[in-house]
Amino acid sequence: MKEKCYITTPIYYASGNVQLGNCYTTIACCSFARFQRLMNRDTFYLTGMDEHGQKIEEAAKKAGFAPLDYVNQIAKNTKELWHNLQISYDDFIQTSETRHTVIVQKIFEKLLEKGDIYLGSYEGDYCVSCESFFTKTQLGEGGTCPDCGKPTRVVSEESYFLRLSKYEQRLLDFIEANPDFIQPETRKNEVVSFIKGGLEDLCVSRTSFKWGVEVKSNPRHVIYVWIDALMNYLTALGYESDNDELYQKYWLNDSKVYHVVGKDILRFHAVYWPILLMALEVPVNFKLIVHGWLLARDGKMSKSRGNAVYPMDMVNRYGLDPVRYYLAKELPLGNDGIFSYERFVERYNNDLANDLGNLLSRSISMINKYFGGSLVGEKVKTPYCDDLERVMNESLKAYIANMEKFELQNACSNIWEMIGRANKYIDETTPWILAKDESKHAELRSVMYHLAETLRFASTMVYPFLVETTPKINEALGLVETSLLTDLTFGYEYKNNVASSITPLFKRCDLKEELEYFENLNKPAVQEEVVNYISIEDFDKVELKVGLVLSCQKHPNADKLLVSQVKIGENVRQIVSGIAKYYSPEDMVGKKVVVVTNLKEAKIRGVESYGMLLCAKDDKDLELLEVKTLSEGTSIH
Ligand code: ME8
Ligand code: MG
Repeated sequence: MKEKCYITTPIYYASGNVQLGNCYTTIACCSFARFQRLMNRDTFYLTGMDEHGQKIEEAAKKAGFAPLDYVNQIAKNTKELWHNLQISYDDFIQTSETRHTVIVQKIFEKLLEKGDIYLGSYEGDYCVSCESFFTKTQLGEGGTCPDCGKPTRVVSEESYFLRLSKYEQRLLDFIEANPDFIQPETRKNEVVSFIKGGLEDLCVSRTSFKWGVEVKSNPRHVIYVWIDALMNYLTALGYESDNDELYQKYWLNDSKVYHVVGKDILRFHAVYWPILLMALEVPVNFKLIVHGWLLARDGKMSKSRGNAVYPMDMVNRYGLDPVRYYLAKELPLGNDGIFSYERFVERYNNDLANDLGNLLSRSISMINKYFGGSLVGEKVKTPYCDDLERVMNESLKAYIANMEKFELQNACSNIWEMIGRANKYIDETTPWILAKDESKHAELRSVMYHLAETLRFASTMVYPFLVETTPKINEALGLVETSLLTDLTFGYEYKNNVASSITPLFKRCDLKEELEYFENLNKPAVQEEVVNYISIEDFDKVELKVGLVLSCQKHPNADKLLVSQVKIGENVRQIVSGIAKYYSPEDMVGKKVVVVTNLKEAKIRGVESYGMLLCAKDDKDLELLEVKTLSEGTSIH
């Protein structure tokens, strides 16, 4: 029986498009999931969208959409992004889906019946942006949110509460008994002191807005978005549904469960979530992996701060792998990492183009040059071969150990130690000198073979990060498939020749040029696209009809204006338009034009006007919109 594991990202707020910081969690989890699969484990990787709550209701309204249409559009965009980033998720859950909402309703009622949820009333300082209440002592200067710095509001309402207090001691005992429940350790200490500070019961319903999961027995209330959101980890597995096979498989029965989250949502996952599970009598068997933030120069990268970098801007310029690699390499588990274009280009040139790219192209070209692409034949070890083998085995071991702990940055370092060693090995063994001496060809072949083996190891080890590079390395080496990490041992028998030539994996780039490129790109790209969306209802407010121009005259007081009498159904209206430069009064007569009929009347240079004629206009020209066949009075939609 294969080992099993279940990996989750937080579900993202559907309040705008995903930026590079959010992508970190998803890309990191994708790398982790690919690693698990390479360890031959049965892996289920879940991601999705957090779609309810006031923040999203407001974002939808601002964009002029109904909430459901809005979140579906964001989900679509997000899935497309994940597809472009080759995120290997197994399921994508949206909290507006019925499979989720019915279960959330059900568990709420269950907890209500059990008495773990009760009705009370609440007044407190609430941050809409974080969907969270704060105590007075937690608030920042001037009553602002301690997390995002935005103003909070006093919210008072009849509310349901989750009895956190009841589970306080049980949670502390649990954390003590499971020392690796929260990683890294510093985060655990934070949580423990938070709990020891005393847990107040948590307000778990709202009446101030509608966009959420209704409390079944009291639909005036919607369920607090965090309770709703956390439940996704179970509802996606079919928990409490007609088919809970996945829940049985990936949550119970010795499956390893990893929730990966950013440090800003630690409390929700380390306190509320386990208590919710305890209340539901579901085993608390997950590990919580807490990562830091990706910072821009001016602080946390985020949509709401407007300093976000968007991943596809990077992918379009450099390809996918450098972006995935950079995020894994630059964000140590638990600490923050800084995103800068300089660092990005440096990593790209040094690690990818030079170290890895050159090792491959040098090795392949030598194998071709010295042995016509073949690795078969007698080999005699040089004095350097054993050390390279030792480094390969040690790197692999350390890499696996680091990956198991989600130490992606260290795992990358392990790969590059091995690559660095192999590059040095070329200098030590000087194949170009061995090649000159016929009696050294068995040694030369051993050198080539060792290089191929290092590259074969690297190909598998980089795969969680460099998803497009691995197949290229395999192809260059004449390998048909990527071996599992569990099968990776030195001594592969190469039956095929290596490729006779290859294109470089990564083309070196010039830092100055790249910085210039981003300077230009940044202006529009860093800011979120501002589209003033209007809803169909907004558009419908404009009443448009076909009008027939019966007569037309010059405006008595203005050269640029014409005054037309326009027949629309039963009525004839007078309309003033600034089109005298383009049309004479005679031109106008008989035209069937498009009229805005519900524009407020206006007096234009002393003449009354009851509507507006639509025109297309550029710098030079202007043209009235005309209708060909339909008759005057017809509505335009
Ligand atoms: O918190 N660097 O959603 P979210 C690293 N809906 N990680 C970052 C980041 C940055 N600059 N910016 C955001 C929510 N993140 C809730 C989760 S789960 C049941 C509900 C990470 O869209 C952040 O730390 O605000 C979090 O882990 C994730 O993106 C989602 O953030
Ligand atoms: Mg957030």
